[in-house]
Amino acid sequence: MATWDATTVIMLKRDKEPLPAEAIKWFIKAYTDGVVADEQASALAMAVFLNGLSDDELTVWTQAMIDTGVRVKHTGIGLPLVDKHSTGGVGDKVSLILCPLIAAIGGMAMPQLAGRGLGHTGGTIDKMESIPGWHPEMSPEAMKAALLDVGAVIAAASGDIAPADKKLYALRDTTGTVASIPLIASSIMSKKIAGGTEYLVLDVKVGRGAFMRNVDDARQLAETMVGIGNRAGVKTSALLTRMDQPLGRMVGNTLEVDESVETLAGNGPRDLVEVTVALAEEMMALAGVPGDPRQVLGSGGAMDKWDAMVRVQGGDPDAPRERANYRQEVLSPRSGFVTYMDALNVGLASMRLGAGRTRKEDAVSFGAGIEVLKKPGEAVEIGEPVLALYADKEPRFAGARELLEEAIAYGPEAPPALPVVIERVT
Ligand code: URA
Repeated sequence: MATWDATTVIMLKRDKEPLPAEAIKWFIKAYTDGVVADEQASALAMAVFLNGLSDDELTVWTQAMIDTGVRVKHTGIGLPLVDKHSTGGVGDKVSLILCPLIAAIGGMAMPQLAGRGLGHTGGTIDKMESIPGWHPEMSPEAMKAALLDVGAVIAAASGDIAPADKKLYALRDTTGTVASIPLIASSIMSKKIAGGTEYLVLDVKVGRGAFMRNVDDARQLAETMVGIGNRAGVKTSALLTRMDQPLGRMVGNTLEVDESVETLAGNGPRDLVEVTVALAEEMMALAGVPGDPRQVLGSGGAMDKWDAMVRVQGGDPDAPRERANYRQEVLSPRSGFVTYMDALNVGLASMRLGAGRTRKEDAVSFGAGIEVLKKPGEAVEIGEPVLALYADKEPRFAGARELLEEAIAYGPEAPPALPVVIERVT
C-alpha cells in the first residue's frame, strides 16, 4: 500500500479533489491504529461533511471500515441470512417483534447484532436487558446453535465489528459531523455488512424523531445505503417510515418489552404492526420466502419463538420485569382530539425520566419511560390523562414535563391518519 500522510488526504477532500482508494484505505486504518490523530480525522470528517463522497469513494471507505475488524461468516446454517436495521426512532421496538416473527415464518435465519441507546432513541440491547437473566453476549458457537434451534437471535455486536466506526462515530458526535449522509451510510453499512447478513432491509425513519427530517433526505440516505449494500454483495432494500410521533404507545425499556409481548400475542397497536409486517414482507421478498406475516403474528407461533429466544440467552420471559417507583400523568388541557405529538421531545423526556443515557457510560433505569394513553387522532376530554410518566426518582419528572409541555397539540378535529410506510427504495 502506498504511503500517505493525513494532511494530504485532508487537503484533497477540502479542495474537492477525488480521493484515491489507497488514500482512503490508509487513512481509515491509520486512524484506527492511532497513527492519525483525532484532530486530523475530525478535519477529514468535516471535509466529507461539506463536500461529500462519490459512490466509488464511499464503497472504498465502507470496505476500509469493515477491514479494520472481522467480517462474520455464519456457516452451516443452510438458510438465507436476513437482517434489518433501523436508523433509530422513539418507541421503535420493531426488532423485538420482527426477530421471533421471522423465526416463526421459517425458511430464513435472522442473526441481529444490536446496540445500546444513546440520546433520544432507545437501544435494542437495553430493552432486552430489562428481561431478568437475559444477557447479550454470545460466542460464535452459541449463536450458530441458536440460529439452528430457534431461527433468530439478538446479540451485542462484539468490539471487532468495524472498530474504525466506534472511534469515528465518537469523534463525529463531538465535532458536529454526525448528520452527513455518506458518514451515516458508511457507519451503518460497515457494521451490517461485517455482521455477516446476506439480505438486509433498512428502516429509514423520517420526521421529528429521526435523523432525517424530510422525505428527500431520507430517500437519499436510503439510496446511498442500498447502493453500498448491493455493491458489497448484500441484497439490500429500504422502507422510509414515518417517525413524527412515537411508534406504538410505549417508550422505555420494560414498557417496550411489554408492548412487544402484547404485539406477539396479536394485540399490537396499528402503527407498530404495520411497520413490522411491512419489514417482514420486504425481508421475505428479498430472500424469496413465501408466507403471510400478519397471519403468523396473530397465530401464537411468533410468541413461542420469543420465549425460546429469551431462554437461549439466560432470560426468563415469565419473570416479573423491573417497574418504576413513581408514576405521574400529563392531563389534557381541553376537550377535542390530540392532533400532534412530537416524537423527539417524547424521546428526550423519556431519557430525562431515566430510560436512556446522555453519555455512553450512564446506566439506564429499566422501568422508566412514557406510556402514550392518547395518540394523535384520538379523542380526549379536558382533564383526561394523555401520557403516563414513569421514573425511579421523583425529581426526574420536572425536567421531563418541561419538554412535554410543548410536545402535544390539541384541536377540534382528528387529523387524517397517514400510513406509516411512506415508500420503498430498491
Ligand atoms: N447510526 C450509526 O450507526 N451511525 C451513524 O452515523 C448514525 C446512526
